[in-house]
Amino acid sequence: MNNIIELKNVTKEFKVLNRHEGLKGCIKDLFSRDYKIVRAVDNIDLEVTQGEIIGFLGQNGAGKSTTIKMMTGVLEPSSGNLIINNRIPYTDRTKNSQEIGVVFGQRTQLWWSLPLVESFKLLKDIYQISDENYNEMLELYGSMVDIETLLHKPVRQMSLGQRTLSDILAAFLHNPKVVFLDEPTIGLDVAMKSKIRELILELNRKKNTTVILTSHDMGDVDALCQRIVIIDKGNLLYDNEISHLKHFFGIYRTLKIRPRENVIEVANKLKDELYAFEVSITNDDTWISILVNEEKNRIMKVLEAVQETHAIKDMQLKEISTEDVIKKIYEGGVRN
Ligand SMILES: Nc1ncnc2c1ncn2[C@@H]1O[C@H](COP(=O)(O)OP(=O)(O)O)[C@@H](O)[C@H]1O
Ligand SMILES: [Mg+2]
Repeated sequence: MNNIIELKNVTKEFKVLNRHEGLKGCIKDLFSRDYKIVRAVDNIDLEVTQGEIIGFLGQNGAGKSTTIKMMTGVLEPSSGNLIINNRIPYTDRTKNSQEIGVVFGQRTQLWWSLPLVESFKLLKDIYQISDENYNEMLELYGSMVDIETLLHKPVRQMSLGQRTLSDILAAFLHNPKVVFLDEPTIGLDVAMKSKIRELILELNRKKNTTVILTSHDMGDVDALCQRIVIIDKGNLLYDNEISHLKHFFGIYRTLKIRPRENVIEVANKLKDELYAFEVSITNDDTWISILVNEEKNRIMKVLEAVQETHAIKDMQLKEISTEDVIKKIYEGGVRN
């Protein structure tokens, strides 16, 4: 078997209390045993080979974190078989954790008040990394990032970008077979995002590490992944090469505008005025979003048409997000 990750018919159900409304309901909940079953992951099959970078996508509540928790051994599947590197993660948790690394975009795994190098030394002990491998890894890191600046800085004094870089370096330090990256670029500016993407790609290439990446940023997925797996309401919706989707999220872009006049009124007028452009228009309190298929109409033409009849305070161009792509697949635009 040369799959590093193998899931066969994996299901995870949670038993949750059926909550009742109001004070009376609260009291009722204290005594009732009224449970319902939530199926967070529903019969999933997945095979990943060593060295792949997989974009693991889905809307909020789709079941991504639950799947990742089963792969990291934090949760036990309700049924089905799940093998990571020839082991069952849940029953072999300690061994499994030696072979994986984890980064959660918004909270650090590092010791807050320690300089990074001290965190590294602790990880060296925890994972029993040999001096030779440790020094080799630090040398490699030195060739990829400005490691000297990071090493002597306490994590709490770092910028979000520096901390994310440090978290990623820490996750790869013991040369794990698989690294899970959950929203690694969240909250970062464009320059830092591209730095993080480069680092992940370089580590993957040098160490042949398998990477499971979740992100809302289609840019991350596009830069890093050849293959994407989409999960929806616990079910596998899509598992294929990213190239099958490329033509499609490459073409769609969103034009966001802030009109001088009332947003809702302008949005409603635009739905008529831009009818011929076959765009899709949505709005919130301040922005109107116009999803343009650039194969049919250039975005500049749409902007010109808007400006003919409306004064604009501000505008932005947005690449398509992973959510947009999922929505399109859902609407039947792309087949597996
Ligand atoms: N510990 C838990 N107890 C009960 N329900 C849970 C638990 N963890 C997740 N869920 C439910 O399982 C579903 C999938 O959640 P999750 O895996 O966190 O989705 P995602 O990471 O894709 O946003 C959601 O409906 C969520 O409410
Ligand atoms: Mg999640």
